[in-house]
Amino acid sequence: MNRTLVIVKPDGVERGLTGEILRRLEAKGLRLVAAELRQLDRAVAERHYAEHAGKAFFDDLVRFITRSPVLVAVVEGSGETWRVVRTLMGATNPADAAPGTIRGDLALEMSENLIHGSDSPASAAREIAIFFPALA
Ligand code: RTP
Ligand code: MG
Repeated sequence: MNRTLVIVKPDGVERGLTGEILRRLEAKGLRLVAAELRQLDRAVAERHYAEHAGKAFFDDLVRFITRSPVLVAVVEGSGETWRVVRTLMGATNPADAAPGTIRGDLALEMSENLIHGSDSPASAAREIAIFFPALA
């Protein structure tokens, strides 16, 4: 089974959308392997988003993802799970995200786009090791 990391971001938890977001992943056929509500600290957030270090939006991104608890989860499926999740998420900017996707249906702003999903098999392995080392 192929596994990938999902984070319901602070806006999703604050808005009470964790159930709705997990429902969509499960309804698609993905299975929850691990899930936990966690307050991320700055060090973990910077490690998770290391690819964006130095970019103009990096500080705002780290501040956002650490502002209140997130739901970190690992899901698995039979195919390219990371890609299935990315398709369900929709485009990074909710203004561009197609209706039917999580961001397309439920989000309005780039900075508050509800969900993170690993963007490749390598990212999935790296991120699962950060948040759930026992599963790595
Ligand atoms: P994520 O990593 O959170 O799942 O989102 P993503 O792959 O769709 O987008 P990514 O390029 O990895 O960017 C991470 C998050 O940073 C914010 N962002 N802002 N102002 C900007 O140009 C900009 N670009 C990215 C977004 O909130 C995005 O989700
Ligand atoms: Mg990303």
